[in-house]
Amino acid sequence: MHDDNNHSEKPKTRREISRRQFLSYTLGGTGAFLMAGPIIPMVRFAVDPILKPKSESSFVKVVEESKITAEPKSYKFQVHQIDGWYESDVELEAWIMRDSKNSIYALSPTCKHLGCTVNWNVDSRFPNEFFCPCHEAHYTKEGKNVAVAPAPLDEFDVKLENGFVYLGKVKPNQHVVK
Ligand code: FES
Repeated sequence: MHDDNNHSEKPKTRREISRRQFLSYTLGGTGAFLMAGPIIPMVRFAVDPILKPKSESSFVKVVEESKITAEPKSYKFQVHQIDGWYESDVELEAWIMRDSKNSIYALSPTCKHLGCTVNWNVDSRFPNEFFCPCHEAHYTKEGKNVAVAPAPLDEFDVKLENGFVYLGKVKPNQHVVK
């Protein structure tokens, strides 16, 4: 016998969604939408410094060009650093001098052995050389490593403008004749 009540049933292939599922989907979606408001700016704040293109290294005015001689002299100067979200002023030091062609160049005082600070002409065993007191590395006036250190002293980018010496970023030594 045929049962007419079966006409009201939905086809078996159609997926039913319970009231509980409907509520959890609806509330979950609404919650996610509402949370996105405050979270997106926070995520942007967190990654923003990483995504920003690195600015060109800026030069800092250090000393009058006329004061630079063939004898290395140490000069201290401040640079403004931005490291992610942290900005600070850092004091750097450079040995600035003229080479045999009268060109001005500037060496980093950071020893290439383990990072102590070198000085010019301070040890009588190594006259007219940069000397590191930590493990006795020494370098020529061009920064060439003579003993202990595995590499020459780094040098700064130099720019001369309106009679002043400006220093930029530190780069590998280009004054050492290989
Ligand atoms: S750190 Fe300069 S010699 Fe070791």
